Amino acid sequence: MLRKGACNAMISEHCIRFADAKAMADVASQSVHLVVTSPPYPMIEMWDELFCRQPAIKKALHSRTGINAFELMHRQLDRVWDELYRVLVPGGIACINIGDATRTIKGEFALYPNHSRILTHMLKMGFTNLPSILWRKQTNAPNKFMGSGMMPPGAYVTLEHEHILIFRNGGKRQFNTQEEKTNRRQSAFFWEERNQWFSDVWMDLKGARQETGDQQLRKRSGAYPFELAYRLISMFSVMGDTVLDPFIGTGTTLFAAAVTGRNSVGYELDSAFLPLIGQGCHHAIELGHHRIGERVDGHLRFVRNREAAGRPIKHTNQVYGFPVMTRQETEMIIPLPAAIQETSKNQFKVTYAAPEASADRQPATVPRASQAVKTGQLRVFE
Ligand SMILES: C[S@@+](CC[C@H](N)C(=O)[O-])C[C@H]1O[C@@H](n2cnc3c(N)ncnc32)[C@H](O)[C@@H]1O
Repeated sequence: MLRKGACNAMISEHCIRFADAKAMADVASQSVHLVVTSPPYPMIEMWDELFCRQPAIKKALHSRTGINAFELMHRQLDRVWDELYRVLVPGGIACINIGDATRTIKGEFALYPNHSRILTHMLKMGFTNLPSILWRKQTNAPNKFMGSGMMPPGAYVTLEHEHILIFRNGGKRQFNTQEEKTNRRQSAFFWEERNQWFSDVWMDLKGARQETGDQQLRKRSGAYPFELAYRLISMFSVMGDTVLDPFIGTGTTLFAAAVTGRNSVGYELDSAFLPLIGQGCHHAIELGHHRIGERVDGHLRFVRNREAAGRPIKHTNQVYGFPVMTRQETEMIIPLPAAIQETSKNQFKVTYAAPEASADRQPATVPRASQAVKTGQLRVFE
């Protein structure tokens, strides 16, 4: 549940630790409900400098033994995955976005299968593997095909996807009290969103990014789109949960948690990201209004199309008064972030306007994308 603050306003809290996620001493065991993250990708050159801080990895790369370097890089990540096992609640979920790497070492071209190396370690740890998502990232780059051109057999298949691996810590999460059950129902998503989000191939992932800040830093951050974190958080956690990102980078997971009414904790080695995260936080409210407005517009469009096709919808959302496909959506609410405030160093608090049906049973008003405030600095859903 979202915590109530002074004046009964709902609040969420977000903090960033500039420290190594291999030992997240500030995160209590079994205190995290969801992990959404993307590590530095082993064997992708942009992350060599970071991994090569370990002399053994530097040596392996320089002595050109690719498979050894690959293994040693993963052993660094393993230590963070081990921490996830400790901090996740029973039934908590970890979503890891990872791409495989292709690289030529000593004239030998090879694929380094990052996703399967992480998967193997997570299974060894005792995580349950759930069906995962292929994120299709099509490239139109003219040099995307590698190898011997049109001459068999030395041409290579182009990698145009990444993985979103999904794991659960043990069995299904339990919601026992009436309050927990109500919060879970209120955290529902739309039926038509379920049909899109729970597909195993994401072809349609739209991004959102702030146009402000250090673009060079943003470029070398390997940031994922806001929509990726927004969806995963909406799919696998409920309002008031705590979301952890051990590799927070530019803060995308934190912004998505703030917009969806979840708390968050982020770890990051590189404190140069702080100004970018700070700026992003201040845009999160507008970003949230736009995304929520877009969801509602999308839903109302879906309802109109369905009704026009002579297929009426029989349930009604009790809060907003619009039709919904299933009983599970009738109590759904979308908390609207109202303000974000830095409470102390690297800690932020978000307050929300909770939609409630009024006493005279008029439905609550919902934000519409067309009414969302936009600034020149924010480019949303490119
Ligand atoms: C792929 S980026 C994450 C990008 C992020 N998802 C975003 O949207 O901006 C990986 C980040 O992890 C950080 N990092 C690498 N190893 C780390 C560690 N052991 N502990 C904490 N942060 C780490 C890197 O500095 C980098 O910013």
